[in-house]
Amino acid sequence: MTAPIRTIARRFPGVPTLEGAGVRLRRSFANAEVPLFDPFLLLDRFGSSEPADYLAGFPWHPHRGIETVTYVLDGRVAHGDTLGNSGVIASGDVQWMNSGSGIVHQEMPQRTDGTFRGFQLWLNLPAREKMSTPAYRGLEQRQIPSVRTDNGGEVKVVAGTFGGAEGPVRGLSVEPTYLDVRLTPGERFDVEVPAGRTAFAHAIEGSGQFGPDGSDPVPAGETVLFGDGGSVTATAGASGTRFLLASARPLHEPVAWYGPIVMNTREQLAEALLELRRGDFVKERRPIVEA
Ligand code: FE2
Repeated sequence: MTAPIRTIARRFPGVPTLEGAGVRLRRSFANAEVPLFDPFLLLDRFGSSEPADYLAGFPWHPHRGIETVTYVLDGRVAHGDTLGNSGVIASGDVQWMNSGSGIVHQEMPQRTDGTFRGFQLWLNLPAREKMSTPAYRGLEQRQIPSVRTDNGGEVKVVAGTFGGAEGPVRGLSVEPTYLDVRLTPGERFDVEVPAGRTAFAHAIEGSGQFGPDGSDPVPAGETVLFGDGGSVTATAGASGTRFLLASARPLHEPVAWYGPIVMNTREQLAEALLELRRGDFVKERRPIVEA
């Protein structure tokens, strides 16, 4: 018996949002959607050919209790953090950062002649890992496996597995899958997503159907949250499609969220803010070594 195909539970067109020091982006989901996307907290999409929309960037700011995943499609983001990491996230690269107990970092898009495009996804940490030691993965494009599909498409595997390839991000409690899928016109894509996991797709380019035959087409820019089931199916429209597909095990834990800090209780948020004022928020600090 084949696994039941997940149908679309809800669609999210995204909301224009001003974030950081004045970056214009499109927010697919965030605070108001808790707990629909559990353990995912937020998805922001950057996309502009106008430098004034992104150059202000995200100067030094704290995070605690979450993982931030920055995926640059086109352009460059300079970054630095209190763990001593610094560098540039370039086209095709992914920065997967576990803030754990606390990190302060900056993320500054650099001027590009073309379009700056990318995503930031936040994953929640389990309660028992919120005060864990921060960890950082800087993944260059060449470290992310790419799988060709039978009909000319391509699947990049950042986390999880697809077509015999395993993404470089491993060992996380919520066992995330994070795929960048490109399909040729009319191509069909099937992947197992075990029952009980939260799953969503975000259409990047073109349009496609998500779900069983006869599902409504989903245009670029939209995010779809899948209902439960055993697999996800997508079929590209006449111009092909490209989309992100993410899934993970939900945490089913209380969420207390204040800006870049996401904990389980209001008391933990108050403690974090007190530590920020007091100057002992960051537990692990190493100087930035300039390359
Ligand atoms: Fe950040």
